[in-house]
Amino acid sequence: MQSFKAPKGTFDLFTNSKEPWQEIRLWQWMEEECKKFSELFGFSEIRTPVFETTELFARGAGDSSDIVEKEMYTFLDKGERSFSLRPELTACLVRSILEHQLYTKLPCKLYTIASCFRHDRPQAGRYRQFHQWSLESIGIDSPFEDAEMIALAYGFLQRLGIHSTVLKINTIGTPDDRKNFQESLKEFLLPHFEKLSPDSQRRFHTNPLRILDSKESCDKELLQGAPTLCDYINSKSQTHFSLLKESLDRLGIAYQEDPLLVRGLDYYTDTVFEIASLKEGRQNSLLGGGRYNGLFRSLSSIDLPAVGFAAGIERVLLAYLDQGKPHLFTGNKKALFIPLAPDSEISSLCFADALRKKNIACELWLRGKKLSKALSFAAENGFSEAIILGEEEMSQKMATIKRLDQATQEKVDFDSIVPYFEQLRR
Ligand code: HAM
Repeated sequence: MQSFKAPKGTFDLFTNSKEPWQEIRLWQWMEEECKKFSELFGFSEIRTPVFETTELFARGAGDSSDIVEKEMYTFLDKGERSFSLRPELTACLVRSILEHQLYTKLPCKLYTIASCFRHDRPQAGRYRQFHQWSLESIGIDSPFEDAEMIALAYGFLQRLGIHSTVLKINTIGTPDDRKNFQESLKEFLLPHFEKLSPDSQRRFHTNPLRILDSKESCDKELLQGAPTLCDYINSKSQTHFSLLKESLDRLGIAYQEDPLLVRGLDYYTDTVFEIASLKEGRQNSLLGGGRYNGLFRSLSSIDLPAVGFAAGIERVLLAYLDQGKPHLFTGNKKALFIPLAPDSEISSLCFADALRKKNIACELWLRGKKLSKALSFAAENGFSEAIILGEEEMSQKMATIKRLDQATQEKVDFDSIVPYFEQLRR
């Protein structure tokens, strides 16, 4: 028989997974932390479809970006229309804001936690289906809002105890600044074209700016004497950047200015930033973002300033676990009914029904009549009480309630089971 497996670069999440970062309770906790932190800064949740028209990403992220050019899962539907699984969330949120006119009340601050899809070579920290927590602030053209976004990103990692990181920032100015710079860069690189890596040779024609963040040593060497983007940045963007840096200084957030940081998506203007983990041996960019004042205009007739970032949930979880502190899952307390007498199952069903009507979580043990087996199941699965209904209990109309977290037990008459648990859970 063929055995089915999850597609390469994807994974399952479930309770007690052998891979600690694939433990579903860890994900539930992390998503909750993301939600709470988003709300702390005034962001509200939005959810959008898993697929969108391919054109949205081509015009949004840019058709010469690696993501659009090489990594999208694109398909034709039955009507021969081209759709793509979302490779990122910013373009999706902007589409939704435009479609529902959410921009009529500004600022519009939205977050989403969702899966994204990129067809890249899978490795530790890089997946084909991965998850992002993406936050977008629309309508504020201010360096102080950029500082707010960075403070949010940085503060979140600090709260999780992820300290071993570096924050890199840069300004990439306006499209005009970059056009002038790219012309000079091409002029400088042209005599050395043959020495560039194949990827950079391609980018030379499609998107020369991206040559700056090439990881190839031949490119890095060639770039040594190249013109630098910061010399081409207009004075308004420079002032914007200075105010951002001053804000970060005042907030006590350490950063490195990285003149080669340009990021892989075409929509950025002015500020770009990334926070990377200092741990070697896996993909280390935990989150990245920046200002994208031109994106609304390239998707509509509306012009709106915006800034945002997205964190990769997998990478943040891996960095969280790197600290070596075991995560304690507190979870909600729950009780286990153990019907041992021949006619005790239906009574257990009815008691369980009464408890759940009071929002008290409980389950039934229906895998045989061995008390020891039922109790070890309860212990292994985090139950706090066992409610035993044996023959004696049924004849006395009293249940034995074992407090598994305290190793005590007592008899409670049938009519008092619900009030007993109400009192216990208060
Ligand atoms: P990005 O840098 O492409 O930016 O992705 C953001 C984060 O997603 C990365 O820092 C990384 O943690 C995670 N990530 C990306 N690709 C993968 C992958 N294949 N496997 C696992 N994790 C991955 C964006 O997507 C922008 N939309 C961010 C943004 C929001 N800019 C403005 N607003």
